[in-house]
Amino acid sequence: MSTDLSTLSLFRATPEQAIETRRRTLNEWGKGLTLEEHLDRDASQEDYDCSRDGRFSSWVLAPREDPQTLEFKCACETFKRTGLVVDPSKSKSAEVVTCYGVASVFTPAANRGKGFARHMMRLLHWVLADESLLPPSEFPTVWGAPPPKVDGTRNGRFSALWSDVGDFYGACGPVHPGEGWVIRGTATTIWDVDTSTVPAEARDWTWLDYAGCSKLWEEDAESMRSDMENSASPGLRFSYLPTHGVASYQPRRLEMYLQRLPTPPQTWGVTSSDHTTYATWAIDPRPPAPRTLVVTRLRANPQRFRELVGKILELARKYDVKRVEMWNLSTELDNIARTLNATTHMREEHLPAFKWYGKEPEVQISWFFNERFCWC
Ligand SMILES: CC(C)(COP(=O)(O)OP(=O)(O)OC[C@H]1O[C@@H](n2cnc3c(N)ncnc32)[C@H](O)[C@@H]1OP(=O)(O)O)[C@@H](O)C(=O)NCCC(=O)NCCS
Repeated sequence: MSTDLSTLSLFRATPEQAIETRRRTLNEWGKGLTLEEHLDRDASQEDYDCSRDGRFSSWVLAPREDPQTLEFKCACETFKRTGLVVDPSKSKSAEVVTCYGVASVFTPAANRGKGFARHMMRLLHWVLADESLLPPSEFPTVWGAPPPKVDGTRNGRFSALWSDVGDFYGACGPVHPGEGWVIRGTATTIWDVDTSTVPAEARDWTWLDYAGCSKLWEEDAESMRSDMENSASPGLRFSYLPTHGVASYQPRRLEMYLQRLPTPPQTWGVTSSDHTTYATWAIDPRPPAPRTLVVTRLRANPQRFRELVGKILELARKYDVKRVEMWNLSTELDNIARTLNATTHMREEHLPAFKWYGKEPEVQISWFFNERFCWC
């Protein structure tokens, strides 16, 4: 018998429910880890910079009459973040806004195919979106009362997720089915490290450790702001910022696997001495996929992109990395990449998808810096 979805609502997980969500996802997201290691890794995530001060939350879809049950239907996680919005019709200056990243959407096998994840994701907008943009009076009455308000939420200007289930989230609108998260920007540029040769002509480059990357991202955030304010692109623009532990989340999540390598990498970025060209990255050593260096954030003067690629390939070889991956290169950089033996394709997994909580339609909105650093 199908469940009446109006009897369910979205609740912030209790600590016990949060642990239960992690137990459930061992097979999907804890590959190569014991249950204890998987639980430890997820618990330590709560101490990451990007999670502190209430920025990380787990959510469960549970019966209204028993919100704390461990038999909840499905779950997901959110990270509150800082972003920038430029609305040229109002001002040239960027506005600093609250926004969200959504992760770990999961329904246990026994509960699948019953509409639970879709309903949870429709409700999620009602805990994330700025209340003035999505007022409670617009909540569909057929779903019962809106989810209870949680301190520090209902303030998001936009949210995004990275779909491994195609366009499923497009159907999860806050009111109407087709008005959910919109997929945008899946271009992926790949180098096969063993067959790529880029002459090592680079000089005046500095390798960066964690601290060096953090400093660079602070500077980077200012350059991103300036790029967005000075862009000729028409219409609204938004971006996540890499600061507050957002970009460092990537290598940190993989730390447990990296520590098992004979020589764990210590270098997470490289910059030209004038800081006009740089990249930061994470290294994913998990088999069976080829060991991959994913560039999280890239800024490149086209004249120096070739050198930058040379430096990345140099580091990749040092750590036995087989693949280098970059997301959504500009046309100019993509053309240079092709001359350096890279291929670009449209990815079919980790599809970036965003939901804009203003009244403007997503087609009029540009996602700036839609790169790996904001993935969660
Ligand atoms: C994806 C998932 C959350 C869906 O949960 P659910 O509660 O069964 O979802 P719903 O019942 O609301 O909707 C089911 C729909 O999900 C979609 N879906 C499920 N898995 C999918 C996949 N791998 N690719 C594309 N669509 C998929 C289908 O459209 C399905 O429709 P169907 O029932 O007609 O086949 C669940 O299958 C799951 O936890 N999978 C493993 C973890 C995962 O991949 N999470 C998503 C990470 S982005």
